[in-house]
Amino acid sequence: MTATGKKVCFMTGASGVLGSEIALAVAGHGYTIFFTWHSSEERAAATLEKIRWISPESQMVQCNVAKTSDIAGAFAAFRQQFERLDLVITSASNFFSTPLPDVTEREWDSLVDTNLKGTFFTMQEAASIMQKQSFVSRIITMSDISADLVWRNFAPYSVSKAGIQHLTRIFAKEFAPTILVNSVAPGTVTLNNKKKMEPQEEMVKKIALQRLGDPLDIIKTILFLLESDYITGQVINVEGGRLLR
Ligand SMILES: NC(=O)c1ccc[n+]([C@@H]2O[C@H](COP(=O)([O-])OP(=O)(O)OC[C@H]3O[C@@H](n4cnc5c(N)ncnc54)[C@H](OP(=O)(O)O)[C@@H]3O)[C@@H](O)[C@H]2O)c1
Repeated sequence: MTATGKKVCFMTGASGVLGSEIALAVAGHGYTIFFTWHSSEERAAATLEKIRWISPESQMVQCNVAKTSDIAGAFAAFRQQFERLDLVITSASNFFSTPLPDVTEREWDSLVDTNLKGTFFTMQEAASIMQKQSFVSRIITMSDISADLVWRNFAPYSVSKAGIQHLTRIFAKEFAPTILVNSVAPGTVTLNNKKKMEPQEEMVKKIALQRLGDPLDIIKTILFLLESDYITGQVINVEGGRLLR
């Protein structure tokens, strides 16, 4: 526990659109949050300000998860501040379209290093702390239903998310029963018009529940996992039936 008796969460990517809402909700659920941002300092600072209203000991640190030295540095800073780690959420992610014939090595590295390598080394650092603790802790990875779709123009992104889902199972088995490891795979929740996605009406037509996801749909799933003691190695798709065929 912290000085105020709260559980502690280390989260990557809490400066993200969905990530910041998740961090705020987890703080509201009784956790102190130590989170990373990469390039969006302003959004990170605004998120920290909101979180501190609920959870005053929360902190943030800059970290490029594509660099293992940055991840190690973020965990070193975390260890200096906190004596326990109850929860890790790996939400840092890069996302842009990459038409197959034109994918460059630079694009591949940018997507796969941030999403897959970054998640792996964050989980590795987390597990090295958690496995020495005498209580059950949790890791939640943020993946994407694209892991189960043959999605045109998003090959490196999709395989990075499929890789995260398999890492989730591997870590769950390796670190049971001390660490519960699960993945949340959202469908489309937020839209980014700069990322060459199909029109919203077209997306909605493919979803059985006929609407895009809401951040609250994802948050409810994460809070469910925080209260679950007998679920590990699972991927929970939160996608309104988008994968139904
Ligand atoms: N939103 C959706 O509809 C949706 C759908 C499916 C899956 N997901 C998954 O859900 C999670 C949260 O989504 P989101 O909407 O918050 O994503 P987002 O708005 O794109 O934010 C991405 C986050 O990752 C961070 N990041 C990017 N590159 C990084 C790097 N090299 N090192 C460290 N951090 C880096 C960003 O930091 P800076 O901004 O500070 O650079 C930001 O905090 C992601 O894993 C995403 O793939 C989201």
